[in-house]
Amino acid sequence: MCGIVGFTGSRSAAPVLLKGLGQLEYRGYDSAGIAVLDGGSIRVEKVSGRIAKLCEKTRDGAAVPGVIGIGHTRWATHGAPTDVNAHPHLSNDGRFAIVHNGIIENYLALRDELIADGYVFESETDTETVVHLLEHYYDGDIKAAVMKTAARLEGSYALGILCTDAPDTLYVVREASPLILGIGVGENYFASDVTALVSHTKNVIYLEDGEIARLTPASITVCDCTGREIQKPISRVTWNVEAAEKGGYEHFMLKEIMEQPAAVKAALAPRFRDGRIRLDDLELTAEELRQVNKIIITACGSAYYAGCSGRYAIEKLCRIPVQVELASELRYSDPMVDEHTLVLVISQSGETADTIAALKECRSRGAKILGIVNVVGSTIAKLADYTLYTWAGPEIAVATTKGYTTQLAVLYLFAVCVAEKLGRIGAEQYRNAVRALQSLPKLLQQTIDMNYQLPSVASRYASRSLFFIGRNTDYAVALEGALKMKEISYLHAESYAAGELKHGTIALIDENQPVIAVCCNEALAEKTLSNIVEVKARGAKVLAVAFRGNKGIVSQADDVVFIPRIDSIFSAALAVVPLQLLAYYAAKEKGCDIDKPKNLAKSVTVE
Ligand code: AGP
Repeated sequence: MCGIVGFTGSRSAAPVLLKGLGQLEYRGYDSAGIAVLDGGSIRVEKVSGRIAKLCEKTRDGAAVPGVIGIGHTRWATHGAPTDVNAHPHLSNDGRFAIVHNGIIENYLALRDELIADGYVFESETDTETVVHLLEHYYDGDIKAAVMKTAARLEGSYALGILCTDAPDTLYVVREASPLILGIGVGENYFASDVTALVSHTKNVIYLEDGEIARLTPASITVCDCTGREIQKPISRVTWNVEAAEKGGYEHFMLKEIMEQPAAVKAALAPRFRDGRIRLDDLELTAEELRQVNKIIITACGSAYYAGCSGRYAIEKLCRIPVQVELASELRYSDPMVDEHTLVLVISQSGETADTIAALKECRSRGAKILGIVNVVGSTIAKLADYTLYTWAGPEIAVATTKGYTTQLAVLYLFAVCVAEKLGRIGAEQYRNAVRALQSLPKLLQQTIDMNYQLPSVASRYASRSLFFIGRNTDYAVALEGALKMKEISYLHAESYAAGELKHGTIALIDENQPVIAVCCNEALAEKTLSNIVEVKARGAKVLAVAFRGNKGIVSQADDVVFIPRIDSIFSAALAVVPLQLLAYYAAKEKGCDIDKPKNLAKSVTVE
């Protein structure tokens, strides 16, 4: 959940660290700090609050001399977001400074042990145990101390380590938290995410669990947990620094909403050849697919809601039963999974702790795993048997938008491709589905263009609380729409299967309760319309999302936002766009910090 960076070179380190932290701020932003080594001692500057405050305090780094350092932006797990709990943390002798992303699960036992040995703790963090352990095990050999320390830690960690005895050298070690090394010219870097590296270099090394790296300005060496040196492949980042910048938009979220036509095109286009879908990375033959008697989709948050939409498409087209499970529940549910289960694990970041745990749980019971992931080289992409990348490019806003729609695009491809392989759809239905999917980027652009009036609609509907309703695929969209609204505007929002309202929640409907009704599933449009009539009869103001040309809805709803017509199985990818914009403009009207909503972080790498 936190972001860590490190730099060693011959220019001033602090500005490089602060810039890197700015690019990682989406990972956590309740406090930040840097440690820079200069003249034989480590200077630590840290603040509670945003990185801008740290920049102010250090005069954009100018006040902190030194050519080697580490930095951290925090999403608090242990201890409040105060100055003292902010990273980096120092050892009692001032020799080591560390930054940490992850959670040390056995920190209480370690803390007691270290206190008994006379170490003094300043913070309430789990991380501080690590820096005292380093001091404890250090006998002149830093690598040995790192290895001994790592061997004592349980949980997840990406650690960046600075030591006064090695004035040009950084050490890093990872276990279940992302860590990437950047290879520069006469300088080297590490970071939690490539977004913090691409402005310096496109040549990177993805560190694996248990690996330790040593970085000097001129070299990077990596060894495994036994200390044996290993050769790591160098990967090339394929996107430009502009992709990780705002490019003239006021917020990353708006930029990413607007990028959806291009992102979905990037997810789809390479997978069509000669009018057919080619999922080269899914090497399951028709015979193997016939052995699958159940599909489980597991994920968290919006990725879970993408799975809810995907379920309708897969069941309808493939006629394979699909269960959609929250990863945080599945991991502890003693799931009924075996070698005939195919598990689809969806994650933008590829690093979500619960999703990784659910993956491992299903794998241990014999299931094959298909990862649907955006971040290349992420943990889920590596653990899965097959990975379909969503190719959305970097997503910086905490609220996912293009990450979600590209997940839908890949789920639709999967559904149509598998249905055809299994002979569950005929040639004409296949051709129509392929055509519909090929038109998605263009229709997404039209959806964006058609919804220019949303800022004024949002200001009328952004009241204290909202209801989102829909049926079937529209219900899945309602779930995502309500989450977007809650997440960035802090307005209360409920999502309901429209037919379920009268089983209790309709009691909440009155003239103060706006209802957003998603009405894009043609087979069920009449049914949802009846629900609109029911809530209107109780005084609710209704904003409907419907296909262009749906005249019936205009006479019933107070306001309608239209989207272009598409086969209802795929309509979620379009219908969600007005809901994203609605949430965005509601949050903007309320003056919320849209890209960095309170209490949240982009990548939830803790349970
Ligand atoms: C979505 O807007 C959220 N920020 C959140 O629900 C997110 O989708 C969830 O944490 C899963 O993340 P992942 O896709 O990176 O696994």
